[in-house]
This record gives sequence, structure tokens and C-alpha cells, in this order.
Amino acid sequence: MHKQNKIVVTGAKGLVGSAMVALLQQQGYENVVAAGRDSCDLTNQVQTLDFIQSQNPDYLFHSAARVYGIMGNMCNKALSFYDNAMININVVHGAHLAKVKKITVMGTGCVYPYPSPNLPLKEDMIFDGRPHESENSYAQAKRAMLAMCEAYEESYNMDWAYVVSCNLFGPNDKFDTEFGHVIPSLIKKCYDAKQSGSPITVWGDGSAQRDFLYVKDTSSAALAIMEHLSGPVNIGSGTIYSIRDIVDILADIAGLQGRIIWDASKPNGQAFRSYDLSKLTTTGFKPAYNMRQGLQETWDWYCQQQVQHGQRHEAHEEIC
Ligand SMILES: NC(=O)c1ccc[n+]([C@@H]2O[C@H](COP(=O)([O-])OP(=O)(O)OC[C@H]3O[C@@H](n4cnc5c(N)ncnc54)[C@H](OP(=O)(O)O)[C@@H]3O)[C@@H](O)[C@H]2O)c1
Repeated sequence: MHKQNKIVVTGAKGLVGSAMVALLQQQGYENVVAAGRDSCDLTNQVQTLDFIQSQNPDYLFHSAARVYGIMGNMCNKALSFYDNAMININVVHGAHLAKVKKITVMGTGCVYPYPSPNLPLKEDMIFDGRPHESENSYAQAKRAMLAMCEAYEESYNMDWAYVVSCNLFGPNDKFDTEFGHVIPSLIKKCYDAKQSGSPITVWGDGSAQRDFLYVKDTSSAALAIMEHLSGPVNIGSGTIYSIRDIVDILADIAGLQGRIIWDASKPNGQAFRSYDLSKLTTTGFKPAYNMRQGLQETWDWYCQQQVQHGQRHEAHEEIC
């Protein structure tokens, strides 16, 4: 990639897209197009194909998606499938028509089969069984994008990479306690508890373990993948945290020690999930942030946003 290349980033106002735009700009890329929903509705085929062809990018980072946490994915299966499948088909086809040098798209660890055939999860296991029931429609729409990239490589020689992402967090996330992901939801709960003086209740017993990656490391990993790798590539920090570890660090940051109630009658989700990162590490990628640093930056950002603007809220069409 050259600094003068034109790079379109979709989902540029979201968690990953905004970090990617910031990273590219910091690294001196001069021609970055930050495409948000206001640039184009990516579910609309005509608008999307026109938009991408008129931009005529050299490279395309595709991070736009309809994204929820587990509860949001469970409650909005049709919407999640429709929007994600439409967005991905339109964007990948648009990249092909615009003859981009390469497209790198955001996939998700949810595409892996459940139960896991083996751990850590390796990229060649993706199609070895059905995804977890709770996230199957989101995961199948994301799998379709992988199948599409494979087909476009075979038929049109398209160069692509598919980022198989662990759980992410950071500024510009959606901080939604009902439909959102675990870390932003915990941050909002902690902030609200701090305002009201009440305790916070967390689902499960905190024993579930996951690989979480701070979003500034995510954008570095995705850029390394764009520059050096092709095909599906797992990303992660390589460090596994339990939900209890994360709640403890957050409670410490927020000054809420001793005010956490664990509701063990609620499910924990999959006990343990880890990713094989050997493909990613060939790029030399190493996370620059540990969990505490990432959580501290996210907490500080969220508190500042609350003071300045009030809360950014979740999309409007959920049916739960
Ligand atoms: N966050 C995670 O933990 C995680 C984990 C694994 C994989 N991923 C993947 O990483 C990618 C980025 O996720 P994220 O967390 O950054 O999500 P996000 O914060 O919700 O950002 C997604 C962006 O896409 C935009 N978008 C949605 N529908 C659109 C449409 N029809 N037209 C144009 N723009 C549209 C959204 O705009 P609005 O805000 O206006 O809706 C939002 O700005 C996604 O592909 C996701 O599947 C995320």
C-alpha cells in the first residue's frame, strides 16, 4: 500500500471503522474516505455500486455491519441476516466492479462451529459444522461473505482478506445494556451505578473466558492483514480473560469495588473460546494495549461522551 492510494473504509463511524480511519491517517495515508451511513445505505444495491465505483478506491476496508451482542442477535435474527447479507453482497460486488487492488472485510468468530471441533479455533475449521444457535443468522450471513470472497477469487482473481475477529471493545462502540456486547454493556452499567449509587448485577458467574482485543490493536491487526495476508485470518490478543477478571478491573477503574452482584441463575454462554493466531503473528503483529489500558481508555472516553453529549443509542428497528 502506498500513502497516496485511495482507501475507502465502510462503517467509518463505528467502533472498528473509526479506529481504522484514525490509524490510516496517523500513518500518513493521504486519501482515506471515511464512509458512514450518510455516504451511502449499503443495503441498497444501486447506491452501493454507484458509491464504490464513483470513489474508485485502490483498497477497501469493509467494517460496516448490523452488529449486536448475543441478546440482540437472538432477538433480531431476520433483520441481522437481511442487513448483513445485503451489505456484504453489495460491498464485495462493488469492490469487484471498481477493480480494487484488495478488499479486507470484517468477519467474526461467531462463524466457527459450535461446539468447537477443537481449540484453539483455526481458520480451516470455519465450515466444519453449524454456528452457535444464539447467533446463527448473523454468523451465516458472515459465512456467506467468506464464501463470496472465495468465489470472486476463483472467478475474477479478486485479492481479499477476511478478518475473523474475537470480541472487541473501545471508543465509538454501542454502549447498550440490552442488545450490546459484554464490555460496552458493563461500562454503561458501571457508569449508571456510579451516578445512582446502586450496585450492578452481572449475568452468570463470571467464569466464561474469551479473547478480547482493544480496538486500536484491532485496526493495527487489520492493517497488517491488508498489507501482508490473504484469506481468512483470526485476530485476537492471545490473552484469555474471564468475565470476572474484566468486571474486577472495571470495578476498580470505576471505583465500584464491592458493589457487584453475580446472578448465577443466568447463563454464562460458551465456557471457553480461543483462536489460533499463528497466521496473524507472521505479520509481526503484537497488541500494544493490555486489558487494563484498553478498559481505562474506553471508560475515560465514555465518561467524557456522557458529559458532552449524553448517550449514543442503539439502532431503532429491534423487535425485542
Ligand atoms: N464489536 C465486536 O466485538 C465485533 C466482534 C467481531 C466482529 N465484529 C465485526 O467488526 C465489524 C465492525 O463492527 P463494529 O463493532 O465496529 O460495529 P459498529 O460500531 O456497529 O459499526 C458498524 C457501522 O456500520 C454502519 N452501518 C450499519 N448498517 C449500515 C448500512 N446499511 N449502510 C451504511 N452503514 C451501515 C453502522 O452505522 P449506524 O451506527 O448508523 O448503524 C456503524 O457505524 C462488523 O463487521 C462486525 O461484525 C465486531
